[in-house]
Amino acid sequence: GAQPQRPYFDPALRRAFTRNTVSYASETRRRRTFAIISHPDAGKTTLTEKLLLFSGAIQIAGAVKGRKASRHATSDWMEIEKQRGISVASSVMQMAYRDHVVNLLDTPGHKDFSEDTYRVLTAVDSALMVIDAANGVESQTRRLIEVCRQRDTPIITFVNKMDREVREPLDILDEVERELGMPCVPMTWPVGQGKSFGGIINLRTQAMTVFESGSERRPQDFETIPLSDADALRARFGPTFDEALESMELAVGASPAWDHEAFLAGKQTPVFFGSGVNNFGVMEVLDALVDLAPSPRPRTSNLVVNRQPVEKTVMPEEQSFSGVVFKVQANMDANHRDRIAFVRVASGRYTPGMKLKVQRTAKELRPTSVVTFMSQRREAVEEAYAGDIIGFTTHGGVQLGDTITDGASLQFTGLPFFAPEMFMTVVLKNPLRTKQLQQGLAQLGEEGAIQVFKPDAGGNMLLGAVGQLQFEVVQHRLKSEYDCDVRLENCQYTGARWITADTPPELRAFTDAYPMRMAHDAADTLAYLCTSPYDVRLAQERFPKIHFHPLREHA
Ligand code: G4P
Repeated sequence: GAQPQRPYFDPALRRAFTRNTVSYASETRRRRTFAIISHPDAGKTTLTEKLLLFSGAIQIAGAVKGRKASRHATSDWMEIEKQRGISVASSVMQMAYRDHVVNLLDTPGHKDFSEDTYRVLTAVDSALMVIDAANGVESQTRRLIEVCRQRDTPIITFVNKMDREVREPLDILDEVERELGMPCVPMTWPVGQGKSFGGIINLRTQAMTVFESGSERRPQDFETIPLSDADALRARFGPTFDEALESMELAVGASPAWDHEAFLAGKQTPVFFGSGVNNFGVMEVLDALVDLAPSPRPRTSNLVVNRQPVEKTVMPEEQSFSGVVFKVQANMDANHRDRIAFVRVASGRYTPGMKLKVQRTAKELRPTSVVTFMSQRREAVEEAYAGDIIGFTTHGGVQLGDTITDGASLQFTGLPFFAPEMFMTVVLKNPLRTKQLQQGLAQLGEEGAIQVFKPDAGGNMLLGAVGQLQFEVVQHRLKSEYDCDVRLENCQYTGARWITADTPPELRAFTDAYPMRMAHDAADTLAYLCTSPYDVRLAQERFPKIHFHPLREHA
């Protein structure tokens, strides 16, 4: 006879039932989203490649550089990047490791694109800092650390290139501690360096992993000897081993005990030593990302309803989908004039075909495709949860900082725009291309490649930047993507402040006083242009009720 149906125990039914009533906690708990930060040449690309390789995301080493090369080929303006050997754009990679989903966000190394990096840092829950053991903490890293510190982002530290003649590990720890303003807790400790680099001691397992150079070896192939076998280690590594034990003891004595909560609060950093190019010490970092780094955190939404701020904490495991656009990139494929909005999922679950709303415009977002970033490939996304990054391909209607939801009214804040520190005037060589220029500038402004200001009094558009290279990129892109030949000319402005007032009459009095100094940016926010820092001070003294903002958060 037929089996009696037992619906309550039917796994498919039970899954469907659970999906509708239970939170997505089990999915969000296994996610890790981090940015990798470093000074150029410290070994970020190499480490990224190895993390992908050893998580099982890709089969062959060299794929990351291959990916870089093919991206160059598909996008003209990336030639600037190629010429200068710097990374202009940031990219996203996803890997699976130990039943976890790890999202890695690369950051541009050049300081002129630091704004882009700051915005990437708003989309992650932790950061991996790579430093060159010979150079310690370098200028570029310092700025990135500042941003992490502001947001209390937990930082994992990887000291790279131990196979070279480098600085003493105690010195390095001391410097990291001073630069980060937080104590270091060594997790591994090097035995020797350069020619005498013997390996690393894992403080938790109390065993030494023996170094061998070469990039063929898998991490699990390295020989491991327990510290209890001290005689064997001494016989093999001689005085280097005893020196390492001694300095390790000093380091451990000088650092606080490991405190996971303190790490999560951005108050201490675990430190790992290794050599990325030799696959050495890399697995320890990958494990730390899974074991130590946080899963997606709650985010705050600040919506203004009837002029009243309404604050709401959005939990990652909540059912309704929400996310924030932290990067917009145009024309990644030169054959398609569309844009990708990179969205960091903040809550809920994304599935294809879902109806989505852009909070700012209350309009429906109709993407032509939605992709996820599997190491070097882009794939159609099947589902995404908090912590994941998905890319919406659109023909417009999205800006940096936009909040996207499945209908709920939310507005995440915290995506920073910094007041430009240099300005140029755009002069179009062929006036018949005015419309294309306007379109190009609007789109480049929405991407955050540059800030575009339209003077209220009329005249040429102004470009505002934080780094000089941004101008070059924009000039190049206007030509190659919009067929607009432009000349960039110096202008008198050296800064800007975004302007707000408590009442419309107060604002009117101010704009009437400085009609030639007022401009609107790409988000249509009012700004005051200045020619020197004194300008701001004088204007401020004259109009004490006006608020001058050096930083604009998307709202
Ligand atoms: P970046 O992305 O931070 O700019 O650095 P990248 O990984 O490109 O590494 C910069 C250089 O440092 C590369 O050498 C790389 O091979 C080397 N490197 C990375 N990790 C280690 C390490 O652990 N030990 C040593 N000795 N070198 C390391 P390059 O000559 O600039 O490039 P390549 O042609 O060798 O790839």
